[in-house]
Amino acid sequence: MHIIMIGTGYVGLVSGACFSKFGTNVVCVDKDITKIEALQNNRMPIYEPYLDDLVFDNIKEKRLFFTTDLKIAMKDADIVFIAVGTPNLHSENYADLNYVYDAAREIAQFLTTRYTIVAIKSTVPVGTSRKIKNIIREFRPDADFDVVSNPEFLREGSAINDFMHPDRIIIGVETDRSMEIMKRLYSVLYLIDTPIVFTSLETSELIKYATNTFLATKVTFINEIADLCEAVGADVHDVARGIGLDGRIGKKFLHPGPGYGGSCFPKDTLALVKIARDRGAPLRIIETVISINDERKQRMVNKIITACSGSVSGKTIAVLGLTFKPNTDDIRDSPSLEIVPALQKAGALIRVFDPKGMEKARHMFVDVTFCENVYKTLQSADAMVVLTEWDEFRALDFTLIKSLLKNPILVDLRNIYDPSNMVASGFHYTSIGRSSVQRNDVNQ
Ligand code: UGA
Repeated sequence: MHIIMIGTGYVGLVSGACFSKFGTNVVCVDKDITKIEALQNNRMPIYEPYLDDLVFDNIKEKRLFFTTDLKIAMKDADIVFIAVGTPNLHSENYADLNYVYDAAREIAQFLTTRYTIVAIKSTVPVGTSRKIKNIIREFRPDADFDVVSNPEFLREGSAINDFMHPDRIIIGVETDRSMEIMKRLYSVLYLIDTPIVFTSLETSELIKYATNTFLATKVTFINEIADLCEAVGADVHDVARGIGLDGRIGKKFLHPGPGYGGSCFPKDTLALVKIARDRGAPLRIIETVISINDERKQRMVNKIITACSGSVSGKTIAVLGLTFKPNTDDIRDSPSLEIVPALQKAGALIRVFDPKGMEKARHMFVDVTFCENVYKTLQSADAMVVLTEWDEFRALDFTLIKSLLKNPILVDLRNIYDPSNMVASGFHYTSIGRSSVQRNDVNQ
């Protein structure tokens, strides 16, 4: 089977490399020649664990190719995936579909006499796959093709494992012919009993948005419960475990933090709210989730200020972690983008370190000191703040840290440390959803 992946962003690149690992011939197409040349030489445009090895191995096996030339690639294609970006149109809270429609028009131009499936992997508003079908049909009334919707559920940082061991595959189809070919494409996953759910185009598109908005709601729910835990002296992790063991709730996505970020949840929650309002079926739960998550960044800033005895003015804050989650270099819509400037506005001087995000962060933060490692960041700082739960922050030398900091103040917005250990080590430790009363008691 020959497939094409248009777009070499997270979804396109990871999916292309993983399909080639299944034995499928994959051509990844992108307009950006620099990106394509880099990929041909095994230089990844993003950091994703194990992606470089996967790409390298499959290039060597001659199953994975990179090109800017869609026309040539289209000659043998059974399936052409559209996996281009759909960034948020900030003024309208909607997904920008220009890249998707451009790709559809190009595909239409190069369709041969061969039957081809056009599969939409980009996250697109409900109704887009049908519009793509109409665009292609209008351009090429002669062409033999079907459009399918095949959303992706991989997470940055564990994308390859998510692709290889998915909870389910969702495919929106309109014909038996396209259904059979898509089944064949996913036969490797079918053999390991992955549920494959066939739906209509619109249902498949909505499943993608409903999944992300539900998960964003779950995260926001536990964040609010964490705030309540602080107020009543309960422990949010015990609450999360206690409710998560109920099979109807499930234990995943119940880790409290500074608010969800990244290139998907913020964009997709806004887009779904817009879609729903436009159709006269508003999603008030999601609207509330968005505003709670927006406000949460300032709440975290207040937490840091409180931990610093009510003011950060003239104080140096050492921030560990800038990416929206660990194991990625992605800073898009990361809580750090709001928390760091707000601390600066409150008069703080900021020193930062992130294991993989430094390069991208340099363009996104102003007047911060970028440091080489954790310990250099903490040198003479008034407080240490953990914004991202990187593994390498979990087992630090706290005796050294205490000697480096001017004040032993530690604000852990990802709850990666044990409160009693931290207090026993002499830190003024603040985390999320775990009683500060208990900490003060131990301190006295
Ligand atoms: C998310 C979905 O999880 C994927 O299934 C989906 O394919 C992807 O969006 C997408 O639409 O492309 P991703 O944005 O990579 O994946 O990251 P997540 O692991 O979902 O985390 C999103 C945000 O929620 C992060 O800021 C993370 O720190 C936060 N989060 C997540 C929490 O604060 N607590 C949790 O328990 C889980």
